[in-house]
Amino acid sequence: MGKNIYLDYDFNGQIDYIDKVKESLLLNAKNKVPLAFVKTYGCQQNVSDGEKIKGILSLIGYEFTNIEEDADLIIFNTCAIREHAEDRVFGNIGALKYIKKKYPSTIIAMCGCMMEQKHIEDKIKTSFPFVDLVFGTNRLHKLPELLYTVVNSKSRVFECGLDDNKIIEGIPIRRDKRFKAWLPIMYGCDNFCSYCIVPYVRGRERSRRPEDILDEATKIINNGYKDITLLGQNVNSYGKNLDEDINFAQLLNRIDSIPGDYRIRFMTSHPKDATKELIDTISESEHICHHLHLPFQSGSNKILRLMNRKYTVDKYLNIINYAKSKMPDVSITSDIIVGFPGETYDDFCKTIELVEEVRFTSLFTFIYSPRIGTPAAEMNDPIPYEKKVKWFQELLKVQEGIAARNCRDMVGKTYRVLVEESKGNKLMSRTGGNVIVEFEGASDLVGSFKNVKITEARNWILKGQMI
Ligand code: SAH
Ligand code: SF4
Ligand code: F3S
Repeated sequence: MGKNIYLDYDFNGQIDYIDKVKESLLLNAKNKVPLAFVKTYGCQQNVSDGEKIKGILSLIGYEFTNIEEDADLIIFNTCAIREHAEDRVFGNIGALKYIKKKYPSTIIAMCGCMMEQKHIEDKIKTSFPFVDLVFGTNRLHKLPELLYTVVNSKSRVFECGLDDNKIIEGIPIRRDKRFKAWLPIMYGCDNFCSYCIVPYVRGRERSRRPEDILDEATKIINNGYKDITLLGQNVNSYGKNLDEDINFAQLLNRIDSIPGDYRIRFMTSHPKDATKELIDTISESEHICHHLHLPFQSGSNKILRLMNRKYTVDKYLNIINYAKSKMPDVSITSDIIVGFPGETYDDFCKTIELVEEVRFTSLFTFIYSPRIGTPAAEMNDPIPYEKKVKWFQELLKVQEGIAARNCRDMVGKTYRVLVEESKGNKLMSRTGGNVIVEFEGASDLVGSFKNVKITEARNWILKGQMI
């Protein structure tokens, strides 16, 4: 595999396009300033891309609206992970047809993971003629140029395809939140879990240079952000193909040494690459949350093999038990797929057993959805969907009981929380373990850390008192 290629955002080139496109966008705007509506679906990686899209649009001179009818530019940043996600996008995009009819100058664009699938591109070409611009996950830095082409060519623009080992640095970012920041440390994925579309729509795994990450982290912290989430599809394999010899634990260590009052999280960890060194780093750090999001997908070794996950239940439990021994307060969350092709009720029961053994803080659970082009989509899948739904509900019920028990166990203990929101005289906050705690306090505490004693656990909502 070749070395990564690092390119600075072609500022000069794109700035030219910004200057050239500004005037016509202003001329066509419904209001004094052009307005954009940007809707993002899917994971944090996509949310982070959405913040870059908004960063570029701000630079062009756009302001933002939540009302599609008011917008001069509508962008749907899409997710392809499950069929349901794609159906929602098509439903919502279909509803834009009347806006295009009413205001023909509105530019309608689609981008993100769905766009990197040929059959989706074809469907948009034939069935959604009012979509003006389609661009893929590796092309968002070219947005000014693409808008320029749409405005001037008066034809539809399709710009997809993966630039596999490229990383574009220096794209402007307009962050959605004031205290929470996403910080991608790598892009793409090389794991090819047999059910998953991500490697096909995001391209090969490539890590950002540590100095670029540290630079961005320092800026974020100095700008007052308190909660930083490092992003990657498999952060544990950070560092491959870099000139410098560095792994994820070492990167974490370096970020942790930036002075300031903040906390760090990361997602997603892949169990096959989770090491004791990583757990030691977290437990000895000053800023890293005692929170591990470690998706196990299935509790059956047979299914894990079919999924191409490259670990066993024993290996998974080893790392979990090591984490618990080093950090008794560690909060563990996970993703699970129910109804993978070939899964029997017996396999499913092994998933339940694992859920009961680990006692996760929370779970993201999904019913398997076949994705065109992935190996699992070709596997024999005899279990009817209705049965999978039943299993799924059984799993939810087990987890509800565990979550309630976990919450009760927190009563009487004190946690350091970050206050995220105020509602009346109530404050919503989050522990390092990502559990939401409600307590009374003034709105000027939003954005600060407080110590809160948990007084009550009601329906998985924790109530507390500031001390
Ligand atoms: N890179 C992360 C996961 C990214 S996708 C990891 O490896 O853990 C988020 C979650 O979506 C996955 O963990 C998986 O549980 C779920 N998922 C992915 N593909 C799916 C599919 N085809 N059907 C159902 N769930 C899926
Ligand atoms: Fe998908 Fe597996 Fe990569 Fe996660 S690690 S993004 S589940 S292929
Ligand atoms: Fe969806 Fe793409 Fe993320 S497929 S889950 S938005 S990487």
